[in-house]
Amino acid sequence: MQIGLVTLFPEMFSAITEHGISGRAIRSGLIELDYFNPRDFTADKHRTVDDKPFGGGPGMLMKTEPLLASIQAAKQALKARQLTGVPKVIYLSPQGRTLSQALIIELAQLDSMVMVCGRYQGIDSRVLASEIDEEISLGDFVISGGEIAAMALIDAMTRFQPGALGDAESAQQDSFSNGLLHSPEYTRPQSFAGQDVPKVLLSGDHEAIRLWRVKQSLGITWLKRPDLLQTMALDKEQEALLAQFIAEHKRQE
Ligand SMILES: C[S@@+](CC[C@H](N)C(=O)[O-])C[C@H]1O[C@@H](n2cnc3c(N)ncnc32)[C@H](O)[C@@H]1O
Repeated sequence: MQIGLVTLFPEMFSAITEHGISGRAIRSGLIELDYFNPRDFTADKHRTVDDKPFGGGPGMLMKTEPLLASIQAAKQALKARQLTGVPKVIYLSPQGRTLSQALIIELAQLDSMVMVCGRYQGIDSRVLASEIDEEISLGDFVISGGEIAAMALIDAMTRFQPGALGDAESAQQDSFSNGLLHSPEYTRPQSFAGQDVPKVLLSGDHEAIRLWRVKQSLGITWLKRPDLLQTMALDKEQEALLAQFIAEHKRQE
């Protein structure tokens, strides 16, 4: 996957390029990042990248010409390296579609994309209309720039690149991948703070462990995020396991 990043702060991306699973995926070439800094596309001696909003008001906007030039350079660079297809251009924005695991899985299938990281009070609406294919938000809150949102998106998509994870199945089992939260997990020691690891996990009985995990995953979702269950069609096995979990939970109350 090739990603062109339009950003005033390319150095911020060392957080994902130098560490962990994303760092390994980038070093091995599974993900390629290229940076397009609007500051490199300025024509004045101060290399100005901000400008006042028409109509007044607090704050500045990203200056239009360097922003446009950097987005177009990112698109051109990606197009030149691809045989087909036009890269999708994403603007990280609090006004966009909220990032979800379903959206990550959809975007992770793309070969290339441009991510525009806003700064100041954001970008000119005409740049939005002419250059951006989709706005994507981290959630209903405002951060100071799009870089952290872009890094979250890249890191999450990395988990779905074949070969990026030691165990390819682990991304499929992550919370939200199947619409549910992940079941609880335990590691050593077997007894800790007066609590033991559930016996079934020590039993070696793979089918019993599978059923326990499905039941816990349904139950944890029911307890913590009941909204997720409302939009899901459970199969017969899941319905029965959730009913068991709820009955056991009520008995313990
Ligand atoms: C201070 S914010 C601008 C917010 C803008 N004035 C508004 O209220 O919609 C600066 C930049 O941070 C990024 N940003 C802020 N919140 C975000 C969020 N929830 N998700 C993704 N990007 C965000 C965007 O790229 C935005 O252009």
